[in-house]
Amino acid sequence: MGTRSARIVWYTAMSMDGRLATADNDLGFLDTIGDRGDAGRGEWDAFVAEIDGVIIGATTLRWLLDGGHSWPHDDLPTWLVSHDTSLPARVGPTRAPLHRVEGDLTGMLDQIEAAGLSRVWLCGGGAVAGQLLALDAVDEVIATVAPTALGNGPALFEHQNLSLPRFGLVECRPAGGDAARLVWHRRDT
Ligand SMILES: NC(=O)c1ccc[n+]([C@@H]2O[C@H](COP(=O)([O-])OP(=O)(O)OC[C@H]3O[C@@H](n4cnc5c(N)ncnc54)[C@H](OP(=O)(O)O)[C@@H]3O)[C@@H](O)[C@H]2O)c1
Repeated sequence: MGTRSARIVWYTAMSMDGRLATADNDLGFLDTIGDRGDAGRGEWDAFVAEIDGVIIGATTLRWLLDGGHSWPHDDLPTWLVSHDTSLPARVGPTRAPLHRVEGDLTGMLDQIEAAGLSRVWLCGGGAVAGQLLALDAVDEVIATVAPTALGNGPALFEHQNLSLPRFGLVECRPAGGDAARLVWHRRDT
């Protein structure tokens, strides 16, 4: 995957034990991350300003929709990974295309490449991230680690067989209260 020009960036928050949510999709643990005010919002805004596409899994999108939210990044081409043919209709009209893909995600990566994108946010969740990592297609991980543990729920990468992919640490620092921000980039070797 190293020859692709679009960078796939897994930007998320997780618990100390590497969970994205509880098994019943509760994200209440995020409240243990201290509010960094303008600094935190500025970091997020700067990240969003640089992305030109999004990848999202069905469970993550359903969590948003079930919570009464719309798809907030409908101005960006979005790849929805799902078997559910009715899910795009739940999102409603979007300003940029919403593509539903299923099965082997290599084809989705080809579509992203063909679209000429440069920096794509992997919005989650762990099941999609695990498949992309198995394809060696995760270029960056930007994770805020909350100072608590969940003990269950989807992990940062959900996959049965990963062959010890290597990342280089780019950043490691406090991120509000007792949380930490970690940034890794994929090692090419
Ligand atoms: N902490 C955070 O910042 C953060 C970030 C992201 C997500 N989350 C949370 O994480 C949870 C979701 O993570 P998750 O790992 O359980 O799920 P996910 O990756 O969002 O979605 C998994 C689902 O996507 C579909 N899917 C995955 N791969 C597929 C493929 N190759 N072909 C077709 N469909 C495929 C399947 O659903 P269907 O068969 O139904 O289509 C599968 O059950 C949610 O609670 C979400 O809110 C938290």
